[in-house]
Amino acid sequence: MAEIRWRDEYSVDIVSIDQQHQGLTSEFLALMDLLRGDAPVADKLDAFDRFTVLVRDHFRHEENIMRNIGFRRFDAHKQQHDSLLADVGSFRANLGGMLEHRDIEAVHEYMTYWLLRHMATEDSRIMSHMRGEKY
Ligand SMILES: [Fe+2]
Ligand SMILES: [Fe+2]
Repeated sequence: MAEIRWRDEYSVDIVSIDQQHQGLTSEFLALMDLLRGDAPVADKLDAFDRFTVLVRDHFRHEENIMRNIGFRRFDAHKQQHDSLLADVGSFRANLGGMLEHRDIEAVHEYMTYWLLRHMATEDSRIMSHMRGEKY
């Protein structure tokens, strides 16, 4: 699977959100490097947890902004954030075993999909809102 990386087309036209998306993208790459390396599984799990906290904080920031700009799909978007967090929580329950078995590519695939799909679909509607387009 291709490596995740920031692209201008992900821009939502709100600087703080774009900066957080870029930050999360590089944190994600650093996390994957760590998971592929020889660190103890406990350290890898801690790093994974720190990453999901960053994502959770980002979701809260984005929700505040969406409220401030009168984003029409606020409820649906927030619901997606909540179910993404619940979903990664279930994934986390099996992560220790996956790391023990060095099943890193499965983690990479899940996390890429988990992080990118939402950014490329639901988050891009924030840009449409900013540009006065239909969304
Ligand atoms: Fe986002
Ligand atoms: Fe979002």
